[in-house]
Amino acid sequence: MKQTILVTGGAGFIGSRLVQKLSKNGFQVVVIDNLTSNLPFVQLPNVVNYNVDVRDFAALDEIIGECQPYCIVHLAAIHHVPTCEIERNYALDVNVIGTENLLLAMEKHRISKLVFASTGAVYSPDYPILNEGETPVDPFDNYSLSKFTNEKQIRFFQQRTTADVCIARLFNTIGANDPNAHLIPDILRQIDPEEPIASIKLGNIKSRRDYIHVEDTANLLMLMAISAPKKGLKVFNVCSSVEYSVEEIVQKIGVLMNKPITIDIDPEKVRKYDRISQFGNNQKVLSEFNTQIFFTIEDALKDILAKMYDLPVGL
Ligand SMILES: NC(=O)c1ccc[n+]([C@@H]2O[C@H](COP(=O)([O-])OP(=O)(O)OC[C@H]3O[C@@H](n4cnc5c(N)ncnc54)[C@H](O)[C@@H]3O)[C@@H](O)[C@H]2O)c1
Repeated sequence: MKQTILVTGGAGFIGSRLVQKLSKNGFQVVVIDNLTSNLPFVQLPNVVNYNVDVRDFAALDEIIGECQPYCIVHLAAIHHVPTCEIERNYALDVNVIGTENLLLAMEKHRISKLVFASTGAVYSPDYPILNEGETPVDPFDNYSLSKFTNEKQIRFFQQRTTADVCIARLFNTIGANDPNAHLIPDILRQIDPEEPIASIKLGNIKSRRDYIHVEDTANLLMLMAISAPKKGLKVFNVCSSVEYSVEEIVQKIGVLMNKPITIDIDPEKVRKYDRISQFGNNQKVLSEFNTQIFFTIEDALKDILAKMYDLPVGL
């Protein structure tokens, strides 16, 4: 049996894929998740699941002390942007205090490898291409503020301990079974596959995003987690380096489903604070881990449609 990797948020949309990949590659996996996203734990022989809140320091202390993981991948967070605005205290409590608890428990038990899921949203919205180490960081909402704070907490932890830390700035990750009310689940929820045409309501349709399939995101996180220890802090964009507007995504879904889709603007859905673009450069992560992005946007959308409607999509 290979080493143990501990994944917080391991029952979630990205975490469950990561846990399956680690398990398949022979690692022992320990998951900490309080199941607030309503997705089930992954049940596999080499996966141990704990229904624990990351704000519970005593529980983290006990589990980490017991399993002595080679690496911790920290994904547990509140990350739905509107929820982070409406429930500001709660989001900061889970994201900031939960992260501090984890770092304290790591320090106490001398765990010296960490992969943290930050976000491309920490970058200033004023730059057309977002590069690690060059583009200024300037959070502009409560969610990105919490992740920016986490990055600072983790820098301080790394300086105190000289640990091996990867900060993974994830861009818009897409795939089937996303529990959060993100763009693609919202579009698909409004389309009846049996009807010849569709009319949907959306908010900011000009906004451009860099979409990456959840299998690609999980693959990159796994490569970071299982890499040989190298003291220091590295920041990586986790993105596809291709950008699409909301309108373009709707148009592609229409082509794949073979139906015209019209969009009405719903003022309720228009986000007051919304960056026009979030486009990352992924060269650093791909060359560091000698890998590639496997899913194009068409492959990703076909996969989502096939799993959602159980239909042979791919016209
Ligand atoms: N999905 C994306 O597009 C995206 C983009 C950028 C960053 N991220 C980050 O990646 C990570 C994983 O995101 P995801 O899309 O899988 O979201 P998700 O909501 O599916 O997963 C988060 C998991 O954390 C768990 N969790 C929440 N609060 C907890 C608590 N107090 N204690 C223990 N567990 C708790 C949830 O139950 C869930 O299983 C998050 O940190 C998120 O901010 C995601």
